Amino acid sequence: MTRDTLEPTSSSSDVTLAQFVVVANRLPVQLSSSQGNEEWRPSPGGLVSALTPVLQSRNGLWIGWLGVSEHVDAPAVYEGIRLKAIDISKEEYDDFYLGFSNATLWPLYHDAIRAPTFHRKWWHTYKEINRRYAAAAAAAVAPGGTVWIHDYQLQLVPDMLRKLRPDVRIGFFLHIPFPPSELFMQLPWRREIISGLLGADLIGFQVPHAASNFSRIARRLLGAAGTDSILNFDGRVIRVGAFPITVDTAQIVALAGDVKIRERAREIRRDLGNPEVLLLGVDRLDYTKGIQQRLMAMTEMYADGQLVGGTHVLVQVAVPSRESDAHYDLERHNLEQAVSEMNGDHSLVGSPVIHYLHQNLHFDELMALYLAADIMLVTPFRDGMNLVAKEYVVCRTDLTGRLVLSEFAGAAAELRGAFMVNPHDLDGIKEAIGLALKAGPKEAKARMGRMRRKVLRHDVSDWARSFLAALQQGSPPPPLIDSDPL
Ligand code: G6P
Repeated sequence: MTRDTLEPTSSSSDVTLAQFVVVANRLPVQLSSSQGNEEWRPSPGGLVSALTPVLQSRNGLWIGWLGVSEHVDAPAVYEGIRLKAIDISKEEYDDFYLGFSNATLWPLYHDAIRAPTFHRKWWHTYKEINRRYAAAAAAAVAPGGTVWIHDYQLQLVPDMLRKLRPDVRIGFFLHIPFPPSELFMQLPWRREIISGLLGADLIGFQVPHAASNFSRIARRLLGAAGTDSILNFDGRVIRVGAFPITVDTAQIVALAGDVKIRERAREIRRDLGNPEVLLLGVDRLDYTKGIQQRLMAMTEMYADGQLVGGTHVLVQVAVPSRESDAHYDLERHNLEQAVSEMNGDHSLVGSPVIHYLHQNLHFDELMALYLAADIMLVTPFRDGMNLVAKEYVVCRTDLTGRLVLSEFAGAAAELRGAFMVNPHDLDGIKEAIGLALKAGPKEAKARMGRMRRKVLRHDVSDWARSFLAALQQGSPPPPLIDSDPL
């Protein structure tokens, strides 16, 4: 879709109040330029495919940011979904997005892998931007309507919105981990964040453990009463539950059967010199993903002969992310240094041991890579869910392929057929890759079959439906049974 084919923001559809409103930091579309042409494309990620049908069927509205700090006229409607863009200036981008969201909350919620930075100015801007989203939602939602707020960038919106519109039903879902109190209590604005979230009627997390962390802190810090799944606060009942997000399974199975994509997978292997074993990593370039640790483990395996240049080849896709942040810049620098050392030390002429792509790949190309890979490596230090692991499993329709998976990814609770690793343990990563290499086809098939059965039980629309059903009916959320793999 090009910019010219879209309705301007001032379209009359804008003024109709919506029964159902999604509020997320990003809108489901982004402007991308290729070969001099600017085009609106769907934002990547499962959230867009999960929510599109729900929004379409309810004449819903999506409130979010376009990802750029200068003002751009957003399309008013995209694939039947009404859009409302929130403007964020360059200074607000620095303080709200790069600052409080991604240099305070992001590291704090991911085990403080990098030291979180606490700045009062960032906090003030975070509040200000959350207020802006809350005001936009309050102005857009119909009486008695439903608003579903997403992720760590917007944790104050539930309570701000409740104060403006006590008549609406408010759901909140956190896509990333929620830390234990030992870490969370570092946050100077911890009370404000918890009471912000408690403005919702239903608060959803990826895994039971995160839900329990939250409820314990709410009781301890704000004196909320109740259990891990039902809290009483400020004269209201707040439900808390785990709703593990998943992928669009039907779409992935269809793409996995597409002849063009299958041919592309064969072509990739040919282009790589038909290695005996193709290993694959696909991550956003983020310090939480454990990419360097994984490369270190593989470098040692090449050095001690467990992996052999030309026979074992790794493709590492690192999707560019949050590039103006110093931590991310350093991560890229160190990663590229590691890639270069690995190739320098272990490649053969015409056959590098690692092929590194610092690119945002098209989903079809990603699918072809998944289909081409014998071993998928997903080893984050901490991850809310990790949809790459699920995508890989869903596309292996012939039950081939092996998954090496971090115990600290939310997906580990469901993907028990994976070769599990502690991503901090170099020897453990080497051992798990070694086991994946050695596993016979029968074992690999049994493991993949087990994982596929589990993942194919639900798709991403079931995820959205189950959250909204719990929100709508005020029914108890699913029981908090902790299936932590540890
Ligand atoms: C994670 C977060 C999302 C975020 C995405 C990409 O998945 O949970 O909220 O949108 O990373 O990060 P970005 O900073 O580019 O939005």
